[in-house]
Amino acid sequence: MLRTHTCGQLNLSDVGKKVTLAGWIVSLRDHGNLIFFDLRDRYGITQVVCNLPELAAELLELVSKVRQEFVVQISGNVVARSPETVNPKISTGSIEVVLEDMKILNISDVLPFEIQESKKIGENIRLKYRYLDLRRDQLKKNIIFRAEFTQKMREFFSSEDFVEIETPILTKSTPEGARDFLVPSRLNPGNFYALPQSPQLFKQILMISGFDRYYQIARCFRDEDLRSDRQLEFTQVDIEMSFIEEQDIMDISERLIKYAVEKTSDTKIDIPFPVLTYKETIEKYGTDKPDLRFEMEIIDLSECLSNSGSTIIESVLQSGGRVKGLIIESGESISVKDVDNFNEFVKQKGGKGIGWIRFKENEIVSPVKKSLKEETIQKLRQSLKIAPGSLLLFLGGETSWVCGILGEIRIEIAKKLNLTGEGIFRFLWVVDFPLFEMNPDEGRIQCVHHPFTSPKHQDLDILDKEPLRVRSRAYDLVLNGIEIGGGSIRIHQKKLQEKIFSLLGMKPEEYNERFGFLLEALGYGAPPHGGLAFGLDRLVMILRNEDSIRETIAFPKTQKGICLLSGAPSFVDKKQISDLHIKIDFEPK
Ligand code: AMO
Repeated sequence: MLRTHTCGQLNLSDVGKKVTLAGWIVSLRDHGNLIFFDLRDRYGITQVVCNLPELAAELLELVSKVRQEFVVQISGNVVARSPETVNPKISTGSIEVVLEDMKILNISDVLPFEIQESKKIGENIRLKYRYLDLRRDQLKKNIIFRAEFTQKMREFFSSEDFVEIETPILTKSTPEGARDFLVPSRLNPGNFYALPQSPQLFKQILMISGFDRYYQIARCFRDEDLRSDRQLEFTQVDIEMSFIEEQDIMDISERLIKYAVEKTSDTKIDIPFPVLTYKETIEKYGTDKPDLRFEMEIIDLSECLSNSGSTIIESVLQSGGRVKGLIIESGESISVKDVDNFNEFVKQKGGKGIGWIRFKENEIVSPVKKSLKEETIQKLRQSLKIAPGSLLLFLGGETSWVCGILGEIRIEIAKKLNLTGEGIFRFLWVVDFPLFEMNPDEGRIQCVHHPFTSPKHQDLDILDKEPLRVRSRAYDLVLNGIEIGGGSIRIHQKKLQEKIFSLLGMKPEEYNERFGFLLEALGYGAPPHGGLAFGLDRLVMILRNEDSIRETIAFPKTQKGICLLSGAPSFVDKKQISDLHIKIDFEPK
């Protein structure tokens, strides 16, 4: 071993010991006869003191040569720091090592950026030199947290009798709503593997094999537009169980999260998590991924505002629309300009604008003040318990349009009022999703989740007549306004699975070609089963208070899907292409 201790290990109990450390030089500080430097490794930082008059000529020369990020091995005596130089922020802050010997293990070129400052540097340069960025404390801690978190999950799964099983990476397309990444097969000209968008079909097949409790920390690949919470390749904590119902999966998921979070942080997680139906969350929050760190529910004002005196409001209500609103209690914090911006936003979304009323002690301020009857204002104050100082925003129109817009404004207001504080974690389940939705571009129905999701028993008899009204046995897990997991009870009867494919517009030849292996397997005693998958990157992002999953992945890709470190994707030579029986009919850029 090139060291006796790590750079995060020494404290007052080691004073008097002779130690050897190895690591990177963080910073050199010249105080005349004394030179200080910090030595860094994965575990922490230790201050080293070089007392120049006492060093032999050879060592003195070495000390004068070292620069930032040189890799060195040093030996010396551990001494206590004088009280005024103690650094309480680091674990080794009470001691320092007095240099007695040093070896330069490797030199370093001048850095493209300062390591500790790198969060402030442009992300592209950080990604190009990711190995340097990964030396930064915060990023390093995220990666270590992720490893510990995954380890705790594995511990939980194993204690609950789950079997970890790997499923293929070179496989056939599983529809999860994105484009596939395809891999040409050299041995089977003209044929392609798809990289898995998820292990969905294999995990269901494992249930048919009888493995009744499966999990996998699975890499998934989806060719879709990237955002701060999406990568082309990402990791799912994938679960499937047999002989269970919705509640069982929800229960095991809650206990898994509680166990892993509480074992890796000081955060306490209360379970069970609240459950809302899809319909309720759309009506209350305008989205199926509500952020529950703050209240501010969307309220229905139609009743209060019927007969209000305002012709605009009356006409919305008469044409079958609803008027809904948001009450902002500290309404003074929302400026006239903010309200103008909301108004603009509504217009961009095809509306006429947003209405507003500022409630003062004995009067109101509002552009519709003149047209509103006094009794309507009293009714609002009393039935909605609106306190002076509050701002009421309201919008009329078709229910889902109104809720969607107010939902977005709700988030903007929360950001403005700083209601999304760090370290608060609000989980919720959303259930009773519709099974299908309309694809507006193609004018046909498509699945809200995936086509293997079971419809609710109660809705089976309307499957043919009113498919859009059928609810599914799916559940999503939402944390702080972000979908961190989704799953469902699956269809385990072959006939029903065929029926769903037909409703999606697939002919038997097509579904047999794509999913014949699943249909066949369902015919050989498939047990009732269901499962769920968490987005590990997203979960870690939120738990670490980061705003992008790139801060939780060692080597992420840019928004354009490029790995700036390795340069992937890249050209390959013509021979490699022709071996794959592929022709490129344009000059690649
Ligand atoms: P779903 O498609 O909802 O379900 O994916 C599960 C979870 O994976 C995360 N996720 C992503 N994370 C980062 N980048 C992406 N591009 C990305 N896409 C999804 C989300 C999401 O909630 N087979 C089903 C699960 C099941 O039914 O068991 C599935 O894949 O956090």
